Amino acid sequence: MSAETSSSAPISPAASSPAPSSPAPSSPHAALDVSALDDVRANEELAWLAASIAKHDAAYFNDDAPHISDAAYDALKRRNSAIEARFPALIRADSPSKRVGAAPAEGFGKVTHPVPMLSLGNAFDDQDVHDFVTSVRRFLTLDAAAPLTFTAEPKIDGVSIAVRYERGRFVQAATRGDGQVGENVTANVATIDAIPAKLKGKDVPDVIEVRGEIYMGDDDFAALNAAQADAGQKVFANPRNAAAGSLRQLDAKITATRPLRFFAYTWGEVSTLPADTQAGVVAAFASWGLPTNPDMAVCEDADALIAYYRAIEARRSALGYDIDGIVYKVDALAYQDRLGLRSRAPRWAIAHKFAAEQAITTLNAIEIQVGRTGALTPVAKLAPVTVGGVVVSNATLHNEDEIARKDIRVGDTVVVQRAGDVIPQVVQVVTEKRPGESAAFVFPTRCPVCGSEAVRPVDVKTGDQDVVRRCTGGLICPAQAKERLKHFVSRNAVEIDGLGDKQIDLFYDEGLLRQPADIYTLAERDAARPSDERLAARKGYGNRSIEKLFTSIEERRKIPLDRFIFGLGIRHVGEQTARDLAAAYTSFARFREAVEGAVAGMPSAAYERFVHLPGLGLKTAESAFKAIAASAEDLQRLAGSEGATIETLLTGLKLVPPKAAGTLARAFDEAPVLIEAACEAARGAPGADYIELTNLDGIGATVSDALVAFFREAHNVEALDALLEQVEVTPFAARTAVASNVSGKTVVFTGTLQTMGRSEAKARAERLGAKVASSVSKKTDYVVAGADAGSKLTKAEQLGVEVLSEDAWTALTGGA
Ligand code: IVH
Repeated sequence: MSAETSSSAPISPAASSPAPSSPAPSSPHAALDVSALDDVRANEELAWLAASIAKHDAAYFNDDAPHISDAAYDALKRRNSAIEARFPALIRADSPSKRVGAAPAEGFGKVTHPVPMLSLGNAFDDQDVHDFVTSVRRFLTLDAAAPLTFTAEPKIDGVSIAVRYERGRFVQAATRGDGQVGENVTANVATIDAIPAKLKGKDVPDVIEVRGEIYMGDDDFAALNAAQADAGQKVFANPRNAAAGSLRQLDAKITATRPLRFFAYTWGEVSTLPADTQAGVVAAFASWGLPTNPDMAVCEDADALIAYYRAIEARRSALGYDIDGIVYKVDALAYQDRLGLRSRAPRWAIAHKFAAEQAITTLNAIEIQVGRTGALTPVAKLAPVTVGGVVVSNATLHNEDEIARKDIRVGDTVVVQRAGDVIPQVVQVVTEKRPGESAAFVFPTRCPVCGSEAVRPVDVKTGDQDVVRRCTGGLICPAQAKERLKHFVSRNAVEIDGLGDKQIDLFYDEGLLRQPADIYTLAERDAARPSDERLAARKGYGNRSIEKLFTSIEERRKIPLDRFIFGLGIRHVGEQTARDLAAAYTSFARFREAVEGAVAGMPSAAYERFVHLPGLGLKTAESAFKAIAASAEDLQRLAGSEGATIETLLTGLKLVPPKAAGTLARAFDEAPVLIEAACEAARGAPGADYIELTNLDGIGATVSDALVAFFREAHNVEALDALLEQVEVTPFAARTAVASNVSGKTVVFTGTLQTMGRSEAKARAERLGAKVASSVSKKTDYVVAGADAGSKLTKAEQLGVEVLSEDAWTALTGGA
């Protein structure tokens, strides 16, 4: 690794075991400011720096005997970056800045996070904070007297980053990306002064991935924007965008010139943790030379967290950097471990958001958008206005009832609000400013895209009209079809790179894509066309981008079950529900069989109406309609007799308790109507498969009904079958499940458990690959009975399901 250049100067004879403050060894032109260098001098110095840094690396990595202090080493790297930034043409092939995984020329490489990068749940008010603390205590089964501490710290509005150190040396940095896979921004992060090239201290683990936020201070942001404006370059909307834009530069030399800062606040992969509390680990970060937030505090309860929140909120504008809330974390790492995560967010942390920021502007128009499930969503088109540092020109109006309630009219002056990353909303109208002529907004009753009727169905259970009006066009409606396609290819579903909203709109309009299956035949159909008509021949495309698109499509012919189910875009089936379903059924065939079974066993509207009669309750309602249906003939006959009322008939034959008879008499006008309804309810009672589906933990009737509704539509089933011809759905492999002797088993917990709360028991069982159900059936493998177990235990005994004590369960699952 010796430098082949005549101008390389000898490394200054620095002490072999240097004090941390040892001076930087001087380069040939160290006395000159970078701005004072000319080409020749810059070239000489880059050569010297390359050789020098290489020697220090060798001394450190190979001989474990550094020649210079960390600060001096960092100073060399910085000087090198600064010169390279000014003289990009002189960057050497052996440049030290290229050594750590530089970004490939045409974009950033991908980095799979060894430990996923999570997001946080939100708290919006004090009650949410109390609820958070209560739920943590409940999960851990801590009584009110047991101590439980939390850390509290500002939530930085920047870009999250994972910075990997091996043997104390910076080796890699990656953005969050989708939480599983991020972008390799090593070369960029290497230029940030706040992120040391080397960690100091004796207790630095062999491997530690430090995570935190890269951000830009308010003053630096203002100065950068001023300079950008002077140079006729893009100005940034806010410090967060400026930080993100500066970091994601393909040319790291640009990043080097930007004033980026960093706070370390959590970690990913780590070989050994330096402490057993959150606060302890962050203190260790600081001792290793990483910047940590000086305002972090430890609090004993919800009131203390809230007091901390208020105190920081009061100082918010004086902090010098943007924050959008406070993050609370359970301090004890052992508790964090037990709490684990739900979906993509940990149970042990929460972000308490600051109140929304508001602004006033004009409502120019109300546009109706049609979503994937046909929902007609009104969107406010606004005169652009800055709200909390972001320019807003669209805002949600929620639904037609909201527009009516707030009497929002086109031309109105309105108050717009935006909180964190949520969609801006129109809060109210400034009525004093309403123009003389204006008319109440009339919500369309036809789909603005396909013209089909748009309806607000009545919920059979509650009798209420749905707040959302929906287009009845299904896949006939281009808007719904496009949105479904977009959802199918989206990042958390099947994730097809290069097939963005723009392409889908275009391909759909041209008739190239109508349903997901078409995506997989696109390349073949394209190749069959004359070459001048192919996609690659289009303006704005080109061979390479089309090739890339076809490759990413091919890469997605195998789709993991959870992503596939999510990708189908079924109402109420979000990512977590899709995962729950995938975990429960493990293969698409089993999932489909279960839902098709449920389609046949879906309760009828008459059944739903009966069991939701106010004041009746499920059990009474079921026994009532069964009894009435069984005696239908007798009742019909008696109903004709003089003076017979519903009440006298029912109580006379002792078919239902007197109170229920009263309820039924109020709900139905005449006996024959009641009898008819009861017979229909009895015929339409839910079948075993339907009950099974709704009993899955985390599923319930809403999701089951949505699944059934989806599979009942012939056009959905056709589209699904066509898709299955093209793709292979791979069985669900629980990311965290470990092989155990309960994997694949169905477990029901009942009674009070001693060693852990119900939620923790459930989370643990699921980690071990078991399926947790809420009620006992023939398909239950184990019932784990704690103290005071009641009807579920009885049912298990009746059905001959194996009953385990909590100890037996713990033993079966290999201890805590
Ligand atoms: S902790 C598992 N602490 O907020 C918890 N996050 O909404 C990981 N963020 O992606 C995050 N300041 O980028 C944590 N003091 C802080 C934070 C913080 C900002 C960001 C982070 C994360 C996002 C979640």
